Amino acid sequence: MSFTGIDAVTFGVSDLAEAKRFLDDWGTSLVSATEERLAYTTKDGGEVVVRPLSDPTLPKGIEPGNTVVQVVWGAADEASLDATIARFMAAGIEPCFDEEGKAWVVDPNGLSVAMRVSQRRKISVTPTPANGPGAPNRIDQRSPVYDHAEPAKIGHVVLFANDFAAMRAFYTELMGFTISDEYPGHGVFLRCQVRGEHHNLFILNRPGKPGVNHVAFTVSDIHEVIGGGIAMSKKGWKTEIGPGRHPISSAYFWYFHNPLGAPVEYYADDDYCTEAWKAETFVRKPELFAEWAIAGGIDGTTRRQVVAIDNSGRGHA
Ligand SMILES: [Fe+2]
Repeated sequence: MSFTGIDAVTFGVSDLAEAKRFLDDWGTSLVSATEERLAYTTKDGGEVVVRPLSDPTLPKGIEPGNTVVQVVWGAADEASLDATIARFMAAGIEPCFDEEGKAWVVDPNGLSVAMRVSQRRKISVTPTPANGPGAPNRIDQRSPVYDHAEPAKIGHVVLFANDFAAMRAFYTELMGFTISDEYPGHGVFLRCQVRGEHHNLFILNRPGKPGVNHVAFTVSDIHEVIGGGIAMSKKGWKTEIGPGRHPISSAYFWYFHNPLGAPVEYYADDDYCTEAWKAETFVRKPELFAEWAIAGGIDGTTRRQVVAIDNSGRGHA
C-alpha cells in the first residue's frame, strides 16, 4: 500500500520555550527555532514541528489545549501517493494542497491528515545482541548503559476516536492501512504496510471525546528505553507510566508527561509483521496493556521506583 510511516507530526502549544526545553532533553535533534516554529528531527529525518496555538494558520486541534494538530504520512513514491489521492477523490473527498504542495484531508475525528512522498531516510539500527544459554550472541562485548536516548523515528500515534467505526473505515479503506490486532468495537492497531512494524496508528473508541492518547518514538532497544527514561527523570520530567512491556506488539515502553500535550513514549522491540502475521482479536483488560509496568517511573538519582498511583484515566486497560 501507499504509506511507509509517519513523516512528521505538528503540535500546537501555548508555551514554545517549554516545548523546546522538553524536546532538547528528549533527544530529538534541533533543526531550527524561531518565535513561530520549532523543528526537530529523529534519526531517520522524521520531523517534529511545534507551533503556537495562537497562530491563526495552525490546523485546528481535535481537543482543547496543547495537542497534535497534524500528522503527515509519508508515501513510498509519487505513484502510490497519486493512487491514494485518487482513492479519496473516488470517495468524494477532495484533498486540499498546502503551500508546500502537501495534500491534506481531515479524518472523521477532525484531525488534519497530510500526505507526501516520504522525505525520511531508510535507517537500520542494530539492537544490542542478547546472550542465551548455549547461544551467545554478544561475545567479548559489554551491554550498553545509555545516558540519554536519541529517537530513531516517530513510530506511531494513538488517537481517541469520536466515531470509532468511521475512523476505522477511513484508515483501512482510504489510507490503506492493515489491521495487526484488534479489540473489536474498542480499539484497532494498524500498520501502514503489510510488511512493517506492528502499528503506526492505534485508534481507541471514546465517543464524544476525540483526542490524542500519545505519540511514540522508536529507540534501538530496551537499554535505550531505560537509559533514556532515567535521563528524562533525572532532568525532572514526570513519568506517566513506565518502564513496562506491552504483550500486544511485544514492545518495551516508557511514557512521559510533557508540554506538547498528551504523553510521549519511548519504545523498542515491537513485533515486525508480514503477510504471514495472524491478526488476533482481544477483549480489553489491564494485563493486555502491560504485562508489567511501573506506574511512577524510576527515580533518576536513586534508580529506585517512584511511588505513584496511576490515576491518569487514560484507559490503560
Ligand atoms: Fe505506544
